[in-house]
Amino acid sequence: MAAFGEEFLSELRNRCDIVSVVSRYVELKKSSSSFVGLCPFHNEKTPSFHVNPAKQFFYCFGCHAGGDVITFVMKIENLTYPEAVNFLAESVGMHVPKSTALDSEISLLRKKILEMNRVAARFFHDTLMSEKGGVALEYIKKRGLLPTTVARFGIGYAPESWDSLIKHMQSKGYSRDDLKASGLVSTTERGMFDRFRNRVMFPIIDYRNNVIGFGGRALADDPAKYLNTSENIVFRKGENLYALNHARTNKLGSLILVEGYMDVISLHQAGFNAAVATLGTALTPNQARLMKRYTDKVIICYDSDAAGKNATRRAIEILKNVDIDVKVVTVTGGKDPDEFIKAHGADKFRELLDGSSNDVEYKLGEISFKYNLNIDSEKAACVREYLGVLSGIRSRVEREVYIDRIARETGLTKENLTAELETYIRRRAREEKKNEEKKAYSMLSGADRNKNVNPEAQRNLSAARAEEDVISLLLNFPQKLDKIEKTVSPDDFVTDFNRKVYTVLCEKLKENPSEEPQFMLSSLFEPDEVGVLIGYITQVGALSVDGDEIDAVAERLRSEKKKKEKSGDMSDEGFQNYLENLKKKGK
Ligand code: UTP
Ligand code: MN
Repeated sequence: MAAFGEEFLSELRNRCDIVSVVSRYVELKKSSSSFVGLCPFHNEKTPSFHVNPAKQFFYCFGCHAGGDVITFVMKIENLTYPEAVNFLAESVGMHVPKSTALDSEISLLRKKILEMNRVAARFFHDTLMSEKGGVALEYIKKRGLLPTTVARFGIGYAPESWDSLIKHMQSKGYSRDDLKASGLVSTTERGMFDRFRNRVMFPIIDYRNNVIGFGGRALADDPAKYLNTSENIVFRKGENLYALNHARTNKLGSLILVEGYMDVISLHQAGFNAAVATLGTALTPNQARLMKRYTDKVIICYDSDAAGKNATRRAIEILKNVDIDVKVVTVTGGKDPDEFIKAHGADKFRELLDGSSNDVEYKLGEISFKYNLNIDSEKAACVREYLGVLSGIRSRVEREVYIDRIARETGLTKENLTAELETYIRRRAREEKKNEEKKAYSMLSGADRNKNVNPEAQRNLSAARAEEDVISLLLNFPQKLDKIEKTVSPDDFVTDFNRKVYTVLCEKLKENPSEEPQFMLSSLFEPDEVGVLIGYITQVGALSVDGDEIDAVAERLRSEKKKKEKSGDMSDEGFQNYLENLKKKGK
């Protein structure tokens, strides 16, 4: 932090108001003294994500993400501290002072891997276009790809060889360690060799135009038809989408989600440049949130096999959870969109898109497919499943439309179906209410606070709570640093994490007496830790502690410490009882 200079950082904070930065990613509504919205870091239907404009921090009561504007950018853009500072500075046209912190090891490595990927992509593409690329080029032509498409997607070829790429990269000055870090090679006890051999290569490019990795399709019969770069600090399969760099500016206003690289490429070539794909894994909530940044509408167009149907059902839920309107296209006559387009052409695919069903229609269709309505028992089971789907629809009118349809299909009366649906809706409402209550309880008690950050807290709840109050005092009343330090010693702490935080904070507050403590956190701690610390400040218990309660808190802390020394760790049973008691008190 000091590397950027306090003046620079405070200017940056003045220009990057947290409410306006967060608003670029989250729809916020004003609510008394703060702004609230749906948390971008976990799935939720009712907002627990708060942004405090006065204190310039955010906090999610659901998942305990929290921090200042820099932590927010670190988390949402997946950047290191210096990278996030740069990102914000660039967005407001501020000049970043040269500093050593900027070149922190991890961001240097990230830069280097991106650079290596670019060099490798060039190498693969050049190889495809050279004599050595003959077979691969033949294959690509056979699959119907035009030269412009090959160029647009930077498609390449990894030759049948153990070390072509390694040699090429070494000739460009990259070391064996660099190569290992890049995920472009595999290593065994026998040594290092090219990870991709005899494969058509698809560079994976993120929305900021970085080559983050590759997918490679085997040309020979290989158990792994597709192979990806192994996960590393730049390649995270679950957080990126193939071709989003092209698709995000499409005019359709929605995105088309398909399964494979070749589906994406075929669709783009046929003029459907809204197509994107996951990177060889099922759709993740993070990918859904990434899509939500560009569109509110997604058309799922997965393969027509059983695996594709399962994946469709799961993808619908994940997309609905981030409030995306979902439509589903079922390809018939062709196993996937690529084959469909090849067999029937672009116009027919356009017709499929136009005739796509919404998520409810799709689910009802899937259900009716399973049952024979001529058999009474099957009809009853089918209607039960139908009503389960309808009970999730908020709009009365929309429900009525489907009730009409189901009445016609089954021969049951609308009145009976409607009455039955009411009980389903009430049941669902009860379940939702129960979940909300659970959530509210755990928010109140702080009992679900991030277990990874301070694992010891789970077994030492009272001690941890006292420690948290001390830290919260320090953060809320930094002017009382002297008195707090005199009253509480690091030795009084039971949990290592809180002791470390206390020690570091005391030291830094002395070094920078004019700095607001909550702004120091992002440079001193990991983003997850910052969230937990912001949680200490916002906890109901902590809020009632005021500046003059230091002695009482210190007393509590020391007595907890003594108890702990006497009894050792709480037994599992003791721990369970404790939780039960807490729950009773919470109600
Ligand atoms: P598919 O097996 O449906 O392949 O895998 P495809 O797209 O039809 O491929 P072609 O047409 O035969 O070339 C869909 C996606 O699943 C992942 C890849 O991302 C692929 O694009 N996949 C598949 C793997 O990661 N590994 C595999 O071995 C197979
Ligand atoms: Mn295919």
